[in-house]
Amino acid sequence: MSQFRSVLITGASAGIGRALAIRCAGPDVALAIVGRNEAALAETAEICRSKGARVLEGVFDVRDQSATRRFVDLADAGAPLDLVIANAGVSAGLEPGFPRERPEDARRMLDINVAAALSTVEPALDAMMTRRAGRVALVGSIAALLPLPYSPTYAASKAAIHMLAGAMRVNYAPKGVGISLIVPGFVTTAMSQRVSGWKPFEIDATRAADIIVRGLEAGRSEIVFPRALWLGAVIAAHLPRFIRDFAFRRFSVEVAGDGSAK
Ligand SMILES: NC(=O)c1ccc[n+]([C@@H]2O[C@H](COP(=O)([O-])OP(=O)(O)OC[C@H]3O[C@@H](n4cnc5c(N)ncnc54)[C@H](OP(=O)(O)O)[C@@H]3O)[C@@H](O)[C@H]2O)c1
Repeated sequence: MSQFRSVLITGASAGIGRALAIRCAGPDVALAIVGRNEAALAETAEICRSKGARVLEGVFDVRDQSATRRFVDLADAGAPLDLVIANAGVSAGLEPGFPRERPEDARRMLDINVAAALSTVEPALDAMMTRRAGRVALVGSIAALLPLPYSPTYAASKAAIHMLAGAMRVNYAPKGVGISLIVPGFVTTAMSQRVSGWKPFEIDATRAADIIVRGLEAGRSEIVFPRALWLGAVIAAHLPRFIRDFAFRRFSVEVAGDGSAK
């Protein structure tokens, strides 16, 4: 459970989103959760209900802007939202044997990771501004700090989220709405399991959700974890380009497809 009483989370049918929903669930808590996999979302809902929460399930694709707005409005009408987490995301990159990203994967990442995150938070921000209360969280990634050759569009999509969150934070603070940027390193989920190679400081989704919720409760504008990986990425980002490129060329990382042509 957390201090938040009405929480909307996208991408709650699996991974970090599911762990966040469970972490926030409790008596007198209204949860609104979104995913496309109906059975998996129902599973999350059942766990949250067993902890005493009221749960509204939204089975739709967050790329559907009208469906997203309708669901956010419905959740807010049921219980004024005090926290919205735009968590739904997808990743892809250089698959084994492929010299470049598939163009359809690149468009899908931009649509889901960036455009759909905006579609999720915009209606919530409208409602929160009228009440001069509430917090919106956008999920970025430590991958946003470096131009990752094995996952160019994923890194770019998360860099866009970092920029959006930083700019929005300044705009919305005087309007009484808090903006938080969540910056995870490797968290054990289906997404990270598709990345080959070394995953330093990897943590499980339950631990990640706990760090995130505690950061949100404290009103932190950036929730970065693990700090050691973040520091490594910041240092790497400031190395002379030829050294960084040399290092990137020596690491061979591949990202297995998520089996989605959607
Ligand atoms: N895992 C990591 O190491 C890591 C690190 C940094 C940042 N992140 C970020 O954390 C977030 C969660 O990632 P995760 O690792 O938990 O991934 P995951 O286990 O693959 O879960 C992704 C979630 O997003 C939902 N989703 C994806 N596309 C959607 C769509 N079009 N419409 C509705 N829901 C959609 C999925 O639901 P359905 O399948 O039901 O649609 C699922 O619930 C993402 O934004 C990711 O980029 C993850």
